[in-house]
Amino acid sequence: MKLEILPSLLAADLGRLAEETRRAEASGADALHIDIMDPHFVPNMSFGPSIVDFCRKTCPTFYRNVHLMMSRPDLYIEKFAAAGAQTLQIHVEADCDLHVELKRIRELGVKPAIVLNPETNVEILRPYLGEIDEALVMTVHPGYGGQKFIAECLPKVTWLRERCPDLDIMIDGGGNAETIPLSAKAGANQFVAGSYLFGKTDMKSAVEDLRNGIQSALQL
Ligand code: DX5
Ligand code: ZN
Repeated sequence: MKLEILPSLLAADLGRLAEETRRAEASGADALHIDIMDPHFVPNMSFGPSIVDFCRKTCPTFYRNVHLMMSRPDLYIEKFAAAGAQTLQIHVEADCDLHVELKRIRELGVKPAIVLNPETNVEILRPYLGEIDEALVMTVHPGYGGQKFIAECLPKVTWLRERCPDLDIMIDGGGNAETIPLSAKAGANQFVAGSYLFGKTDMKSAVEDLRNGIQSALQL
């Protein structure tokens, strides 16, 4: 499985969004994680489709992994696909028919993914496992960057890895030099880090350190 590090744009200095996006790409990270929030689904708001388009224009070859924290992602899937989303992650807790929406995402030429909140039982994903390219296990309650990693979510990663050896499995929330290697050991292969990476003056070394930490954890 390819091991991937994804800086989360939510933690960027928004006054310097173009430089921050370029800095994330130049760090050697594999993709950019872009958090989209609606205030019904989470107690916060963030970006819309125009930011995804901005990232595409600023760094055309930097992969755009788009996390829709929305109650009705079905109303926006076309807009985010048109704006340049390359993976669209929709929550299993959203208020829409997931089978229909996952299929629609794929038909738009975008990779479909499902996200699971910390309090949601992983068994709920069973009917969708054959329809997704990626599963995202939230390791914080969605809504804000900079929160503490919830290690109790990791058994869900292991449950998924045991059943889907080839599935991309991502963790999101509280990712850092301690929690990312732990998540790799549990079976994840994609790792979001927002405040940890954007908080570093040398993001490139931080990405390298994370890769080394993952490799050491997997060899133990
Ligand atoms: C939480 C977002 C995360 C967040 C991660 O609602 O989905 O992607 O930006 O930020 P850190 O890594 O700072 O916890
Ligand atoms: Zn996210």
